[in-house]
Amino acid sequence: MHYEDANGSGETHLQRLIDGESMARRKKIYEGKAKILFEGPEPGTIVQYFKDDATAFNAEKKDVIEGKGVLNNMLSEYFMNGLTSVGIPNHFMKRLNMREQLVRSVEIIPLEVIVRNYSAGTMAKRLGMEEGTQLPRPIVEYCLKEDKLGDPLVTEEHIAAFGWASQQDMDDILSLALRVNDFLSGVMYGVGIKLVDFKIEIGRVYDGDFMRLIVADEISPDSCRLWDIETGQKLDKDVFRRDLGSLTDAYTEVAKRLGVMPKGATPIARPTLIN
Ligand code: CDP
Repeated sequence: MHYEDANGSGETHLQRLIDGESMARRKKIYEGKAKILFEGPEPGTIVQYFKDDATAFNAEKKDVIEGKGVLNNMLSEYFMNGLTSVGIPNHFMKRLNMREQLVRSVEIIPLEVIVRNYSAGTMAKRLGMEEGTQLPRPIVEYCLKEDKLGDPLVTEEHIAAFGWASQQDMDDILSLALRVNDFLSGVMYGVGIKLVDFKIEIGRVYDGDFMRLIVADEISPDSCRLWDIETGQKLDKDVFRRDLGSLTDAYTEVAKRLGVMPKGATPIARPTLIN
C-alpha cells in the first residue's frame, strides 16, 4: 500500500514523509518564520528547508498555507539559477527535494536590501504616495534585520557608523541589488508580470583571504511584489497580508507562467490510496 499524488506532479504524501525524515536527521542551525536551516553534508554548506508557514506584520498575522514551501523552494531555485546564468553570484547550489535546497553558507549582512520600481507598501505610506506610481528610477532602501524593532529603515550613515557594512560593501550591495532588479524585472515582464519591489539579503563568503558578497536567503513571491500587467492582480504575499484570496493559487500562477510548474499541476498533495 502506498500513497500517490492524484495528478502525478505535486508533492506526494509519501514524499512528504521521506523529506520529513531526512529533515529530522539533520542538525538544526536556525529556525526562522518561513524557513529552517540545517547543517549541510559538507563544511561550508547549509540545507535550507521551506516551511508552509506564512507571517505578516512582524508575525502578528500567522497561518499555514499548504504548498507554499514547495512553491517557494522551486521558485527560489528558478530565480537563483537565472542569476547564476547571467553571472550574478548567489548562494544556491542545488535543490535536494520538494522542500529543501543545498546552499553555500554565508555570513549574512544584517540588512534587508529593498529595491522598488513602483511605490507600494511602507514607502507609499511613508511618503503619502498612491500605490503603483512608477518611480523615476529604481530606489534602493536598507532596513536593519531586527524583528524586535520591526526591521526599521536605516540610512547609509547608520550602516557606516555602526559598522554593519563598509563603504566597499555598500558599493557592491548596490550593484548586486540593481543587477538583480534588471534581471528579475525582465524575467517577470516576459510573463506579463510587473516587478513592483522586492527584498534580498546579502552574505559574505571567503575564498581564502579574499572576501566577496553574494545574494543569499531566497527570492520568491514572499519577498517580492508582483502584479499582473494587464489586470493589476496581486500575485505575491500581499494576497495573504490583505486577505485577497488564495496565496497558493497566486504563487502557482507565477510558477506556471514561468514554466517552473507544469500547467494543470498543483503543489498540494492530494493523496489517493493505491492497493
Ligand atoms: O512588505 P511591507 O509592506 O511590510 O514592507 P515594504 O518595505 O513595502 O516591502 C518592500 C518589499 O520587500 C516587498 O516586496 C516585501 O514583500 C519585501 N519585504 C520582505 O520580503 N521582508 C521584509 N521583512 C520586508 C519587506
